[in-house]
Order: sequence, then structure tokens, then C-alpha cells
Amino acid sequence: SAIIVTTREGEEHELEAQVGMSVMEVIRDAGLDELLALCGGCCSCATCHIYVEDGLLDALSEVTADENDLLDSSDHRNDRSRLACQLIYSDALAGLRVQIAPED
Ligand code: FES
Repeated sequence: SAIIVTTREGEEHELEAQVGMSVMEVIRDAGLDELLALCGGCCSCATCHIYVEDGLLDALSEVTADENDLLDSSDHRNDRSRLACQLIYSDALAGLRVQIAPED
């Protein structure tokens, strides 16, 4: 299983993903340090902001109130914005494409 991650410079990386990991962990563990994920996945920093690029938006978990507030603090939020630490990888997300959002 894999997800495809596009960096801010437009480089594409296909990353191995294990069921139960967050998308943030998949990206961080692959060494893509663009995704700062400063809070380590506690949903309190918003530095794991990504854009979900394909039709899998509906397969994702609902945005919680905390995630929504954090995304609102970003100048770069759009309707495809999510926090990568809040997206838990499952087989339903195989082939998920995401892009790392610009730094705030
Ligand atoms: Fe901090 Fe996701 S890693 S909110």
C-alpha cells in the first residue's frame, strides 16, 4: 500500500504506508522533513497541513472541531485542507494523493 506525496517544490514521492499509521507518520518516517509536524500528532500545531488531491476526500474521517480551528489559523486553507496527523491510513486510502501545503 502506498500514498503519493507531492512536496512544495512539486516532487512526487510514493511512500509505503501501513494500516493504522497517520499520514503524517508516513511522511515523516520517509524523511520528508518539509512536514514539520511539530506537535508530534497531538492536533495542536497545524504544521502537518496537507491538501488532499483526489476523489478520496469522502473516504476520510470527519474534520473534528479542534482540527477545524487549527486549519482556520492557516492562511493557506482551502476545501482540500486536512491535518495529516488526523488521517489514519487504511486500505480504503490506498493510492491517496496529497500535497504538502505552503508554510504559514
Ligand atoms: Fe501537529 Fe498535526 S502534527 S497538528
